[in-house]
Amino acid sequence: MILVTGGAGYIGSHAVKALLAAGHHPVIFDNFSTGHRHFVHGTPLVEGDVRSSADLNAAFQSYAIEGVLHFAGKALVPESYKEPGIYYDVNVSGGLTLLAAMRAHGVKRLIFSSSCATYGIPDCTPIREDTPQRPINPYGESKLAFERALRWFHESHGVEYLSLRYFNAAGADADGEFGEDHDPETHLIPLVLDAAAGIRPEVQILGTDYPTADGTCLRDYIHVTDLAEAHVAGLQALLNGRITSQPLNLGTGVGYSVRSVIETARRVTGRDIKVRESSRRAGDPPILVAAVDRARDVLGWTARRSSLDQIVSTAWKWHQRS
Ligand code: UFG
Repeated sequence: MILVTGGAGYIGSHAVKALLAAGHHPVIFDNFSTGHRHFVHGTPLVEGDVRSSADLNAAFQSYAIEGVLHFAGKALVPESYKEPGIYYDVNVSGGLTLLAAMRAHGVKRLIFSSSCATYGIPDCTPIREDTPQRPINPYGESKLAFERALRWFHESHGVEYLSLRYFNAAGADADGEFGEDHDPETHLIPLVLDAAAGIRPEVQILGTDYPTADGTCLRDYIHVTDLAEAHVAGLQALLNGRITSQPLNLGTGVGYSVRSVIETARRVTGRDIKVRESSRRAGDPPILVAAVDRARDVLGWTARRSSLDQIVSTAWKWHQRS
């Protein structure tokens, strides 16, 4: 069975569905701090916190776990400035507590949700896995700290891992079962769709003076279902010993500006979307676009449903659920 920490969250819930579709047996481990109970559909569940050895041991004792997908964590850059201690506590201490529990139960395979935020402001684009990692916010620092710990657990304890560095996860399950639902919401696409739906009066463009063609930040948006499938491919490859431990970027290799996301949303939704141009937000690198060849070569995986239209239209369908 496969333990999925954060399996009731946005990306974790999609991964659970992809695991089931591939014939795996997931067990969700979640404390519902940001996850949703209604995202758990009959999958075995252990309610617990990754910072608690007792909770984790209960999961490993109750189920014959062969590998772990580790999504549980704090993932908002603005919040990480307000509460850096919480980011280190959950993302680093929580990760180390998980590794200790895995070790105690002889589990050696882990897929970690890392982030393009570990690169900071890269010297070149697209970003390769060997691009120097110099995070510019506490969130990125906490993800990098755990990546580095993993490397030493590999050397010293034989843990086999992938650090999957997500670019901008977006979109929603095509069947409408899961989607992005954060509180507070800080991510661009849900905020744009709130403005399209009239839930918010407008969307702010946070910075129009970036060194890009239209002055707004470029991001590599990847559909959450593509991300989920990359986890399944990575897990299978780790379980059958086909690949070595390493970091992999998960993106599309194409960057879209904030203005082009808003334009796409206007077209897909057919709604008027009012914008307000505002100043930059702290911790936003101007351009984050992935080099994607390593994930393709190692996993045989590429993003298949991550056009901006597909991302925005699945997100809009989810957004309009009653
Ligand atoms: N943006 C706006 N207006 C908003 C919200 C966002 O213009 O109301 C802009 C941001 O400035 C950024 C882009 O839209 O340029 C995307 O912002 P998101 O908040 O949607 O996503 P981020 O790029 O900040 O975050 C993502 C991941 C994080 C990761 C980060 C790396 O969600 O986990 O990339 O910087 F840390």
